Amino acid sequence: MLRHCTTNGYCDRPIGTGAINVAPTIGVFDSGFGGLTVLKALLEVIPQSNYLYFGDTARLPYGSKSVQTVARYACEAARFLEQQGAEMLVIACNTATALALPQIKEAASVRVLGVVEPGAQSAHAASKSGRVVVIGTDATVSSHAYQKALASLKIEAREKACPLLVPLVEEGWVDHPVTEQVASIYLQEAFSDGFSSADVLLLGCTHYPLIKPVLRRVVPTTVTLVDSAESTALAARELVRSTSESNSQERSELRFFVTDSAEKFKRLGQQFLCRPISNITHIDLKE
Ligand code: DGL
Repeated sequence: MLRHCTTNGYCDRPIGTGAINVAPTIGVFDSGFGGLTVLKALLEVIPQSNYLYFGDTARLPYGSKSVQTVARYACEAARFLEQQGAEMLVIACNTATALALPQIKEAASVRVLGVVEPGAQSAHAASKSGRVVVIGTDATVSSHAYQKALASLKIEAREKACPLLVPLVEEGWVDHPVTEQVASIYLQEAFSDGFSSADVLLLGCTHYPLIKPVLRRVVPTTVTLVDSAESTALAARELVRSTSESNSQERSELRFFVTDSAEKFKRLGQQFLCRPISNITHIDLKE
């Protein structure tokens, strides 16, 4: 039976149950809307797959919740996506990956790819100084998942929680002076005191790709922005390539599942995905 490489920390699980010569149906999980930035990146590099997206919009944000709660929610979502036919899971939510990737892998019977490892690998490749600043939610930063992943690559990391950025992005203030001021305060602190030589800013939260232009303006020009959404999509493509041939399908089928209002998801979600969203089903996960 075909098994998957574990060297990058990916799940050592068989690929689906049947044919392996077509791109797998990929389940993408996030606490809500932000994971659509990862889906967008996936669609760019693996357009031949079908996607099932689960946004736990009734229970967001995850970034301020405990490990136990996030792990429970994420495992429920992973099982749901598998029941719907996902043959591989991408945990788009940085908080869920940072806090609960081992538990999710345990709960799933298909391959599971999180965002931390690919993000750390890309930051390692981009840094010459060996110093990286990582920004994320409170929970992601408290877990030190990025710091540990980077330390294993001999990169020194400073992690900085930026909790105000998620609500600002969800408010649609992606290019607003207030967002720029808030980002500037966080990042001036992060790049000070011994970290002025850091040359990479690793975006460790699903929402930050939307404010890349703002972030670009407030960090030194010598700093490279590394987007964990893009890194994860490329890592997913490698996994898909290693196990399947591309099929002739030209357009992906997208299905969305949300735990709160489908209408709100349709409205807000298209800003993250940069395309209209349809095929949304509201679901109620039983506790
Ligand atoms: N998706 C979360 C993350 O990437 C951000 C939003 C939340 O806190 O739920 O960490």
